[in-house]
Amino acid sequence: MLNFEFQNPTKILFGKGQIATLNKEIPQDAKVLMTYGGGSIKTNGVYEQVIAALGSRTIIEFGGIEPNPSYETLMKAVEIMRTESIDFVLAVGGGSVIDGTKFLVAAVDYAGEPWDILRKSVRTFKAMPFGTVLTLPATGSEMNSGAVITRHETQEKLSMGGPGLFPKFSVLDPEVVKSIPKRQLVNGVVDAYTHVLEQYMTYPAGAWLQDRIAEGIMQTLIEVAPRIIADPSDYTAASNFMWSCTMALNGLIQKGVPTDWATHMIGHELTALYNIDHAMTLAIVFPQLYKVKFEHKKEKLAQYAERIWNVSAGTIDEKAQAGIDKTVEFLHSLGVKTRLSEYTDDFAKAGGFIENRFAERGWKGLGERRDITPSVVREIVEFYQCIVPMGLSWFKTFLLLPIYRLYEAKTWFRLKLFFHVFANPNTWNFLKNNQFPKSLIYYCHFSAVILYLSR
Ligand code: NZQ
Ligand code: ZN
Repeated sequence: MLNFEFQNPTKILFGKGQIATLNKEIPQDAKVLMTYGGGSIKTNGVYEQVIAALGSRTIIEFGGIEPNPSYETLMKAVEIMRTESIDFVLAVGGGSVIDGTKFLVAAVDYAGEPWDILRKSVRTFKAMPFGTVLTLPATGSEMNSGAVITRHETQEKLSMGGPGLFPKFSVLDPEVVKSIPKRQLVNGVVDAYTHVLEQYMTYPAGAWLQDRIAEGIMQTLIEVAPRIIADPSDYTAASNFMWSCTMALNGLIQKGVPTDWATHMIGHELTALYNIDHAMTLAIVFPQLYKVKFEHKKEKLAQYAERIWNVSAGTIDEKAQAGIDKTVEFLHSLGVKTRLSEYTDDFAKAGGFIENRFAERGWKGLGERRDITPSVVREIVEFYQCIVPMGLSWFKTFLLLPIYRLYEAKTWFRLKLFFHVFANPNTWNFLKNNQFPKSLIYYCHFSAVILYLSR
């Protein structure tokens, strides 16, 4: 186990009726800015409960924080905070409202252009106090100190954070789950599941307890997903869903272990480029990332397959592959599409765009070994993404997929796809009974063709 420090100061108020406890958590004389999103809180009863709990305090409302909160919108709230001398902020919403609020409390007293907090990765050590009422389990933002903000002007989505950005408290009432639409429930499951994977799918670090907690969260999410989708008013399922999402990203399971956040970094770019829901970008990226980094991750992938999906037969490689396949099957069972080309026709530009972005930012190596370079990022996004969905049989991979892809592709892309299919390492892996590592064919044929044709 690696050395670590762990401190999480956020107080959690969990359960039915807990919104009423706001009254004792916020100072009586506070001038409160209440932030929220597009209006869901006004139709599901949350707004009324919050207003009742705040009692006679002075409240100024700032609604309209959009999913993937934007710098442009948030700067309007910063102005209000400055002119109205706000001294406490209450976020009522999902990850976007909470993240947006973290930006506000960091930006309000920031002595420069607030975008620099994101652009220059300025850590926030001290900020205006804030609390949250969570309405959408997913991001873990209610119990962590990170936030992600989008700037439309430059098509950027960047992260910020620091110890000053933990909420003072967060109210987690699972009854809010019953008004969440299916699309957002699925997003929540996928986002939280991926958070766990990114703190787990690296290499064995002798952190047995962290592994078991991470596995417990994933097993719980697999168990609750069909139940909350079938019936969001199932309180037992909703409460387990909500607490799993919080536990997935409150810092606990990443202590003492290596982590790999490349999926999120790539995913943020896909949201910035195509406005794809955050969680869906993760479902697009991580299965491909595990294929590309298979050799480095296969021990944990095999452990995951054994413990989560009960895969008991086969070699390490076979179990690891089964772990990826089973996860993709799980995503598909939730109705999630796992290829970029299923979200946009304009997918071909993504790899090169993100490669350049990461290179410009100096992100030379992501992942637990710092070896996911910008060109590897391109490989993850571009090659597997367009060509080989996970879990296809030999027959489909060889005969049906090439025909389908060639038929589906845009004209200029057809030749490239054709080569990709026949240079696909999975194809050759199959021929070699899954024992064919990164080979001459892979490097010479596949990489050269891709690099040349996708210039
Ligand atoms: O805006 P309203 O009207 O409230 O509707 C929202 C929004 O349209 C709706 N919703 C929320 N609670 C509801 C509800 N609808 C009905 N009933 C309810 N109880 O759901 C929609 C999506 O909300 P949003 O807050 O955008 O979703 P989510 O919680 O998934 O947050 C996504 C954002 O969080 C960031 C993402 O990048 C993205 O910008 N993340 C933040 C992280 C963090 N701070 O640690 C980590 C994550 O990985 C993620 O990057
Ligand atoms: Zn996420």
